[in-house]
Amino acid sequence: MKKDLKNFKILLGVILTMVFVSIDYFEKTDQVKEVSGSAIESGMENSVMSTKKIALTFDDGPHPTYTPMLLDGLKERGIHATFFLLGQSAQNYPDLVRRMQEEGHLIGNHTFYHTDLKNADVVLLNREVVKTNEVIEKITGETPQYIRPPFGSCDDNLEEMTGMIVVMWTVDPLDWCCEDAASIVRRVEENAQDNAIILMHDSYKSSVMAALTVVDELQKQGYEFVTVDEILFE
Ligand code: NI
Repeated sequence: MKKDLKNFKILLGVILTMVFVSIDYFEKTDQVKEVSGSAIESGMENSVMSTKKIALTFDDGPHPTYTPMLLDGLKERGIHATFFLLGQSAQNYPDLVRRMQEEGHLIGNHTFYHTDLKNADVVLLNREVVKTNEVIEKITGETPQYIRPPFGSCDDNLEEMTGMIVVMWTVDPLDWCCEDAASIVRRVEENAQDNAIILMHDSYKSSVMAALTVVDELQKQGYEFVTVDEILFE
């Protein structure tokens, strides 16, 4: 009996070792597949995997014509962006907000009527920020955590007063002022760097065209496009 028990223990040990070795093997195989998959996607089969992250952010939407165009282009490229929505527009185009969420984009708050939040009191914040969160939550089931104040204008205590995270930007190609895709692309490329947050607006055709060109060009340079949470908290 003692010998049988000893053999059984050895057998059990061998089986467990085999199980752990194979689990380890399959995990490693998956990792290799993931790495080569993303390297191929970003068109750099022969170089090392990218560590440079960059985020595209779009304010003032959703826009009925240009936002779907942008979402199509981002989907084709497998890219996620961040959208700071106006409550009023979100209310008018709920299907576009739903689509953003379904396709993995991050949705933030840009006030209800594009209002300057400098010196904002509780009444104004309720009307502009809380109301916008409610509209978005009604559509997506999730309350936005991120806010971009219109014009980048707010007081230092906005986070404290709203319980939200304020997101500014590091690259502003002034896409709204010239509506010229080529110069928008040039300004973004000149200022692109690791962990950059690019400010654009999905309410212009030129901005959408420029954004998609920027994705194609910067991917070739090894950039990985992420949502702003990945830049702020990693
Ligand atoms: Ni804006």
